[in-house]
Amino acid sequence: MKEATIITLPGDGIGPEVTEIAVTILKETCRAYNLEINTIERNFGGIGYDRDGEPVTEETLDLCKKHKFVLLGAVGGPKWDDLCANKRPEAALLKLRKELGVYANLRPIQVFPDLAGSSTLKEEIISGTDILIMRELTGGIYFGEPRLTSEENGDPFSVDTMKYSRLEVQRIARKAFDAARLRDKRVLSVDKANVLESSRMWRKSVIEVSEEYPDIELSHMLVDNCAMQLVRDPKQFDVIVTGNLFGDILSDEAAMLTGSIGMLPSASLGETNGLYEPVHGSAPDIAGKDTANPLAAVASAALLCRYSFGMEDAAKKIESSIETVLKEGYRTADLFRDEPETKRIGTKMMGEQLLKVLRQDIKSSEVTIEI
Ligand code: IPM
Ligand code: MN
Repeated sequence: MKEATIITLPGDGIGPEVTEIAVTILKETCRAYNLEINTIERNFGGIGYDRDGEPVTEETLDLCKKHKFVLLGAVGGPKWDDLCANKRPEAALLKLRKELGVYANLRPIQVFPDLAGSSTLKEEIISGTDILIMRELTGGIYFGEPRLTSEENGDPFSVDTMKYSRLEVQRIARKAFDAARLRDKRVLSVDKANVLESSRMWRKSVIEVSEEYPDIELSHMLVDNCAMQLVRDPKQFDVIVTGNLFGDILSDEAAMLTGSIGMLPSASLGETNGLYEPVHGSAPDIAGKDTANPLAAVASAALLCRYSFGMEDAAKKIESSIETVLKEGYRTADLFRDEPETKRIGTKMMGEQLLKVLRQDIKSSEVTIEI
């Protein structure tokens, strides 16, 4: 049996509950493929601040860099909202992304047929949607300098800086074109080039990269229009590549196409490291109540198999177990609508149903693939 070590950072709110299930599913699946997963858990986010005085310690950052693969739950909550900027839970997440160099954030948006009715949007508009949002994650206005708050003639003002270099744009663009090659071969670059200088540079740099990919169709859209098109006709999109801030906003919007933000996984990749986290937040209001939806965390574990372990089969097994439990009618509170054949269940029970399906699947298929 081979071995791999991953770092788990359950974080705040519902983070620990959903991460626990994701880890169980990951271990069980990988074991069937002859890979034993060891985990090292660390405090992260608000809980890190409470226990260690820092939302993330240098030791934790070094450990993540050393072991390369990180599974994260969620960070943040009202309890830590008034801390100064660099002690906030979110600061830990930004630091981790930056230090791991995971500049490409992949957010796949797929509508599960059994959930098409759970979205606030009409079923015929969303069904069949399959989008990959490729969000730039370590640059743009999240990190640009200067960033400061000062005062002018007694009037306070603040500055954030949206800055992109050609190198930063072109490496994320290449990730988008590469991903499109395995999909419908279309890339849409989203910017605000009618107003922002950084967007004009973004667009020009993406066009340059597109010359290396004659087989991929490139188009451009302004971010405000894209926000509208996502709810008007989401089926038109294949790969969307965009900057850090626009990607943050558009991916929350796109999440609602799937019925619940509780369904959305993400992978953040650099040249060697991988950080995997659900897109949803820490939902402190439902933390510890066994009602959170663990499916986004589990789907993030599937992405870890796919992108960091190169275990496509294992990833598919996890993803199909999610589809099966939904088909069987199991729903956490966020997905539940009083429909026939559906059953409202808690977080733990969802984990157990997934395990049951996985075990059956593993037993009935001959899993002999070596990694
Ligand atoms: C996300 C989150 C983070 C972000 C926050 C928590 C810093 O909203 O992963 O989308 O803005 O990137
Ligand atoms: Mn966000």
